[in-house]
Amino acid sequence: MKKLLYQFDTDALPSVFDNVVGYDGGADQVSPYGGVNARNVGGLVEGAIFTRGLKDKKNTAIFIGGGNMVEGEAVLSAVRKKFFAKFRVSVMFDCNGSNTTASAAVAWLAHGRSLAGKRAVVLGGSGPVGQRAAVLLAREGAIVAVTGRKREVVQAACDSILSRYGIAVRAIEAPTHIERGAAIEGAQIVLATGAAGVTLLNEKQWQDSAVLELLADANASPPAGIEGVGQSDRGLLKHGKILFGSLGFGALKLALHRACVARLFEQNDLLLDAEEIYAIAKTMVG
Ligand SMILES: NC(=O)c1ccc[n+]([C@@H]2O[C@H](COP(=O)([O-])OP(=O)(O)OC[C@H]3O[C@@H](n4cnc5c(N)ncnc54)[C@H](OP(=O)(O)O)[C@@H]3O)[C@@H](O)[C@H]2O)c1
Repeated sequence: MKKLLYQFDTDALPSVFDNVVGYDGGADQVSPYGGVNARNVGGLVEGAIFTRGLKDKKNTAIFIGGGNMVEGEAVLSAVRKKFFAKFRVSVMFDCNGSNTTASAAVAWLAHGRSLAGKRAVVLGGSGPVGQRAAVLLAREGAIVAVTGRKREVVQAACDSILSRYGIAVRAIEAPTHIERGAAIEGAQIVLATGAAGVTLLNEKQWQDSAVLELLADANASPPAGIEGVGQSDRGLLKHGKILFGSLGFGALKLALHRACVARLFEQNDLLLDAEEIYAIAKTMVG
């Protein structure tokens, strides 16, 4: 029986990245749907849950992606509402690579050390990756703040984290390098999750910090999100700080994404969201 992955994407054009990794994760067929929302997903889910017998349902799975985290979470909720009794299939939620990217970054940051009680700042953290990273850092015991250019946007992201996870994350309005430099004062961990190709911090703003221990940059498109962090850095020591670049932890992100897709086809009732994906990342890191 063929392993079928239904790729529900909130964007009009479904992600090619997610499609390729779907195949590389072991699906025999990946069917991409764009423009999926909580109102139109119901019929698609019915097609997935009513077509195969109980022992074969594990060969059908759903992947939810796209750039709109709020819409993506609404799709996830609508998908789960359609499930009942044994009529369900496994689901992976990874809007914009949020869970796999954040999990890979935080798993490396926490690898072989405790983050408990440390102050962490997620720069440009109102997006999908930053929101999930904030949650995972807090789950590791860090005291987390998130920066964004506009207070209302970054506060909305923090409100969403509070309502979904019960985790209080401080919102910091930081539209320029000056405010972002001030935001990282006293922090032991800085993770940049801003938009691709946007530099959020200059090297001179972090190199002399006496308390900063760990820096990670998710941005894979030059220039770097944190100047001075190399794309391939994976635990490199520079200015007395440990650095992780986008490709440095990106290898784990890709392997993790593939491993998660593979797991979807092992049972018909798996839900892979932030905590579950992070737990898998912790078994793969290092
Ligand atoms: N390494 C990997 O394996 C991997 C995998 C996936 C994604 N990524 C990268 O991870 C990063 C985060 O992804 P994402 O999808 O969460 O990003 P995103 O939603 O595109 O952007 C994140 C945040 O960046 C801020 N931003 C946007 N334009 C900006 C500008 N011109 N100046 C300053 N801030 C700006 C926005 O926050 P405010 O509006 O609140 O300022 C936005 O919420 C991206 O760089 C992405 O390419 C890496």
